[in-house]
Amino acid sequence: MCGIVAYVGHREACPIVIKGLKRLEYRGYDSAGVALMNGSLDVYKKKGKVSELEAFIADKDTHATIGMGHTRWATHGEPNDANAHPHYSTSRNIAIIHNGIIENYATLKKHLISKGHTFQSETDSEVFINLIEDIRLDSKCTLVEAVRLALHEVVGAYAIVVLAKDAPNQLIAARKGSPLVLGIGQGEYFLASDATPIIEYTSDVVYLKDHEIAMIHDGELEIRSREDVKQTPYVQRLEMALEQIEKGGYEHFMLKEIYEQPRSILDSMRGRMVVESNQLIMSGLREFENKFVNADRIIIVACGTSWHAGLVAEYLIEDLARVPVEVEYASEFRYRNPIISERDIVIAISQSGETADTLAAIELAKSKGATIFGICNVVGSSIARATDAGAYTHAGPEIGVASTKAFTAQVTVLTLIAMIVGSKRGTLETTKLRQLMVELENIPAKVEQILKLDEEIEKISAQYKDATNFIYLGRGYNYPVALEGALKLKEISYIHAEGYPAAEMKHGPIALIDEHMPVVVIATKDSSYEKVVSNLQEVRARKGKVIAIVTEGDTTIPSMADHVIEVPETSEHLAPLLSVIPLQLLSYHIAVMRGCNVDQPRNLAKSVTVE
Ligand code: AGP
Ligand code: GLU
Repeated sequence: MCGIVAYVGHREACPIVIKGLKRLEYRGYDSAGVALMNGSLDVYKKKGKVSELEAFIADKDTHATIGMGHTRWATHGEPNDANAHPHYSTSRNIAIIHNGIIENYATLKKHLISKGHTFQSETDSEVFINLIEDIRLDSKCTLVEAVRLALHEVVGAYAIVVLAKDAPNQLIAARKGSPLVLGIGQGEYFLASDATPIIEYTSDVVYLKDHEIAMIHDGELEIRSREDVKQTPYVQRLEMALEQIEKGGYEHFMLKEIYEQPRSILDSMRGRMVVESNQLIMSGLREFENKFVNADRIIIVACGTSWHAGLVAEYLIEDLARVPVEVEYASEFRYRNPIISERDIVIAISQSGETADTLAAIELAKSKGATIFGICNVVGSSIARATDAGAYTHAGPEIGVASTKAFTAQVTVLTLIAMIVGSKRGTLETTKLRQLMVELENIPAKVEQILKLDEEIEKISAQYKDATNFIYLGRGYNYPVALEGALKLKEISYIHAEGYPAAEMKHGPIALIDEHMPVVVIATKDSSYEKVVSNLQEVRARKGKVIAIVTEGDTTIPSMADHVIEVPETSEHLAPLLSVIPLQLLSYHIAVMRGCNVDQPRNLAKSVTVE
C-alpha cells in the first residue's frame, strides 16, 4: 500500500515531504525515504518509521525545492534499507517512488538484466524505474514519453512519481489502481496518496484518474492520458479541516476516534433522518430506490471490519426489508465465479474506499450487470468513484489503523438503508419505523454514556493484559460484534482472539475453555438473551473468566460473571452501535498496557491497496 508525497514549488521540499509522510504512515511503516533534487538527485532511505528517517537526515544537506518521499508497506522484498523507496535507475539519473504492485515484474526484470541493467533491491518498483530508463535510452525520447510507454508494459497497480537529475524543474506522476491526489497551490504543486499531507497548504485538488499522467514542468501542470491525449483537470475543493487529522490532546488516534463516535454517528445520519416529520432521505439512494425495492438479492462485499458491518446489515436488511442478503469477503467473491444478475444489488463497504479486493469485486459485479452501491468514508476515493451510486459515512478521517468510528458510521448508514427499503417495500410498518428512528436518534447520547465507563474498562483490561487467548461470544445482531471485538484485540495487542456465535461454541471452541481463558460474552437484552445466558453458564462451568456486556439494570448476569459492563438499553436492531464500544476500549487499553503501537500495529496498513 505505501504512502507517497511529492512537492515542487518555492518552499523547502524536505519538511513538507516528511510531514506528509507522517500523515500517511497509516498506510505502511516498514521503511521511509526521500529523494531531493538540488543539482544532484539525492536519495536518503531507512528501514523503520519516518521518525528514523528524520533522524538519519538531520545532519544532511536537504535543501531543495523539489522532492518526493515514500513510506512503505512491503510487498516485494523484506523491509530493509535497500528495499526502501525511492529507487534509482541503474544510471542513478532518475528515481521513483511507487505504491502498488507490478505483477509482471519478474519477466521485465529478466529482460532488463539481459540488457545490462543492475538492481540493488528485490522490489518490483526498481524494475519499473529501470524499464523507464531502458525505454528512454532505446527510444531517445523525453522522460515523460518514456514513462507513458512504460505504462503500456507494466501489469498491475501503481501510483508513481518520477524525478530526473537532468530535469531539475520537473516532476512526473501517474496512477492506475493506487490513489493519487494532486494539490494546486500558488506556483506550487503537491502530490500525495490522500489529501491529508496537502490540506494545510491548499484546498484545490485534482484526483488523478487511472491511466492519467501528470507532468509539472517549470511551474505548469499538464495532464495527459496514457494514449497521449491532453486532459482537462477537474479541480475540486477539499472539505477537510486540519484539526480533523490531528490528535487533539488524545494519546492515540484510536482513542480519539473511539471518543469521536457520538459525533461521527450523528454526522452519518445528519440530514438523512428527520424524526419530527418521519422522514428518511438518502440522496445517493433516491435514484436507485426502485432497484432496491425490486431487487432479487443484495450482495454485500467488503473486508475486515467493513465486512463485519456488512454482517450487521444482513440481519437488518433481511429483518426490516425482507430482501435476501449475502455477505461476502471481497477477496473470495471475485475468485469464485459468483452468480450475479442485473436484478442484484451489490453494496460495497469500505472505510478507505481504496481496498483492492473490494474494488476488484466491484469490477466483477459491474461486468455482470449488477447495480453497485458504495458506502465509503473517504470522499473521492476509488471505490466511491467506481460505484453507480452511494452514501458517504461522514465519520471524518480515520487515522488509527484499527477501525472504530468508521464501523459505527457504516452500521448507522446501513441501518438507514434497511429502514428506507423496508418502508418502501411495506415490510416495515410506520409505528416500528418511528420507534427505530427515535431509538437511532438517541444512540449518540448512549454512546457518550458508555464512554464514561472508560476507567472501569481500563481496570478490567489490567487484569487480562497478559492473557494469550481470548474468546468473544455473541448471538444475532451481536454476533458480528463478537467478531469485531476479537479482530480489534488481535490486530492491536497481538493476543490471539476468536469471535464465535455463542451457540456455536459447544461445537468445538468449548474445548479451549479453562481457568486461563477470558471469554467476552455480549449478552444484552434481546430475543436471544436467555440462550446467551445458557452459553455463559457453559463457560462458567468450565471455569472460564467471563467479561459480560449487559443491558443496564440486568440483575441476572452479575452473579454469573467475573466482570460486567453495562450499556444502555436500545432496540436489538441497534445493539451493535452500543455493544461494540466497550470492546473497542478493552482492546485499546490492553494494547497500550502491553506496550504495543496502537495506531500502527505491526504488519498492518490502513488501506490495503494490494490484492
Ligand atoms: C480494521 O480494524 C482493519 N484494520 C481492516 O480489517 C479493515 O477494516 C479492512 O482492511 C477494510 O478496509 P476498508 O474498510 O478501508 O475497505
Ligand atoms: N511493491 C512495492 C514494494 O514492495 C510497493 C509496495 C506497496 O505499495 O504496497 O516496495
